[in-house]
Amino acid sequence: MAGFPIEPAGRIKSLPPYLFAAIDEMKRKAIARGVDIINLGIGDPDLPTPAPIIERLKQAAADPNNHQYPSYEGLLSFRQAVASWYQRRFGVVLDPVSEVLALIGSKEGIGHVPLAFVDPGDIVLVPSPGYPVYPVAASFAGGTPYLMPLLKTNGFLPNLAVIPKDVARRAKLMFLNSPNNPTSVVADRDFFKRVVAFAQEHQVIVCHDAAYSEIYFDGRRPASFMEVDGAKDVGVEFHSLSKTFNMTGWRIGFAVGHRQVLAGLGKVKSNLDSGVFQAVQEAGITALESDDRLTEGLRKIYQERRDVLVPGLKQLGLDVDLPPAAFYVWAAVPKSYTSASFTAHLLEKAGIVTTPGNGFGAAGEGYIRLTLTTPRERLTEALERIRNTGF
Ligand SMILES: Cc1ncc(COP(=O)(O)O)c(C=O)c1O
Repeated sequence: MAGFPIEPAGRIKSLPPYLFAAIDEMKRKAIARGVDIINLGIGDPDLPTPAPIIERLKQAAADPNNHQYPSYEGLLSFRQAVASWYQRRFGVVLDPVSEVLALIGSKEGIGHVPLAFVDPGDIVLVPSPGYPVYPVAASFAGGTPYLMPLLKTNGFLPNLAVIPKDVARRAKLMFLNSPNNPTSVVADRDFFKRVVAFAQEHQVIVCHDAAYSEIYFDGRRPASFMEVDGAKDVGVEFHSLSKTFNMTGWRIGFAVGHRQVLAGLGKVKSNLDSGVFQAVQEAGITALESDDRLTEGLRKIYQERRDVLVPGLKQLGLDVDLPPAAFYVWAAVPKSYTSASFTAHLLEKAGIVTTPGNGFGAAGEGYIRLTLTTPRERLTEALERIRNTGF
C-alpha cells in the first residue's frame, strides 16, 4: 500500500515468491488476447460434490442446533464416521475420542501442527518438490525446513539414509505425502516401516499427508501410514474430503493418530479457530458413510483422462510415467527447456496453463506438473495444441 509506513513481519517478507504469480500474469495477458485457455495448472476437482452430500447439508443447515459454535475437536458423530471409514478402508482401529481431530481442510492442520511442536532452531524435514505449505508452516513456527529431495533415481521417495546425523538430531517433525503432489508417486509399506524406524531412532514426529489416498488407478489402493506397526506411536496422518468427494470448497478434513500430537494441534486450533460448521460435518458423515461407488466413479473418470493425456505426451516425445494415483502428471521438460521456459512456451504458443516443477522446490526443476481435473476432450485438444507448437 503506497505510503503505508509499517513493514510486514519478517515471516511474510521471507516467503518465497507466490508460485502462481508469474503464470497468472501470463494467463491474464493471454485471456486479454482472446486465447481459449486450457487450464492444466490447478489441482481442484472440476466435478460437482455428489448430490446426497449436498442434500444432507441442506437439511443440516436448517437445524438450529448447528447454528452455534461447533465443538473444537469436531462432532463425536463425525469423528466416529472417520474411525469407521479408517477401519473399513485400511483395517486401522482408531479411538474416535482421542485419535481423531476434525480440521477446516487438511491444509489448516498441516499449517498449524508445527506451531504446537517446533521451536526456533528446530528442523522440520520436508519433501522437495512438495506441497508448499510444509516449509512455510515450518518457517512460520520459527523452525528451519530441511529439504529431502525426491529424485527419479530414488523412485521419487525421500532417502532417509542420507539425512545427516546432526540434521536428524535437530529434527522435530517430518512431513511426508503419499500419493504425492506433485509427482503422484505412492509410498509402499516398506518405506513407511523405514519411516517409523527413523522416527523412533531420532525422536521425530511424522506428519503424513494422505489427501490423495482415494484417487488411485488400476485398482491399486495406496496404503495408509497408520497401517504400519508403530506408526500411531510416532505420528499422525492428515486426510481430507476435498479430493475424495469433490469438496474442496467445503473446507473439511481431519487428522488421526498419535493422541498427544493431536492434542497439541488441538490446543493451537482452539486458540485460533472455532471448528468446522456442524452442518458441513454432518454432510461429511454422509460422504464418509457412502459406499465405494461414489469414489469409484471419480477414479474411473480420472483414469480415463490419465490414459488419454499420458500416452499422448509420450507420443509427443516427453519423458513421463503413468501416475499410479493422485490427479497429477509429472513430466520432464524437453532438453532445451527449463521448468519456467517450458511452462511459458506452453502458455504462449498453445494457451495451456501448467505449473513449473521448481515452484514446488528446487528439486522440481526440469519438470512441469499437469492436472487431470479437465474433461477428456480438452486434454485431447491440449495434446493437439502441444503437437502444433513443435517444441
Ligand atoms: C498434498 C496436499 N495436501 C493437502 C492439501 C490441502 O487440501 P485441503 O485443505 O483442501 O484438505 C492439498 C491441496 O491441494 C494438497 O495438494
